Amino acid sequence: MNFTETVTDRMICHCLQVKESQVADSVAIYGAGTVKDVVRTCGAGGGCNSCHAKIRQLIEAHGVTDATS
Ligand code: FES
Repeated sequence: MNFTETVTDRMICHCLQVKESQVADSVAIYGAGTVKDVVRTCGAGGGCNSCHAKIRQLIEAHGVTDATS
């Protein structure tokens, strides 16, 4: 099972209405390695910032060890 097969379609960023699968695509397809990269590629995390921890977890699940930026 690869990374993109383990994610769901649950909403991860309520401010921008972005699903977990869209964030996973940003990481796996567009190479997003930081929260800023995810904001730039799919918009998730661009509002209240409360989803940043979940976004970091997704990035780190993809093998990026430091997703703090
Ligand atoms: S829930 Fe993602 S920025 Fe607010």
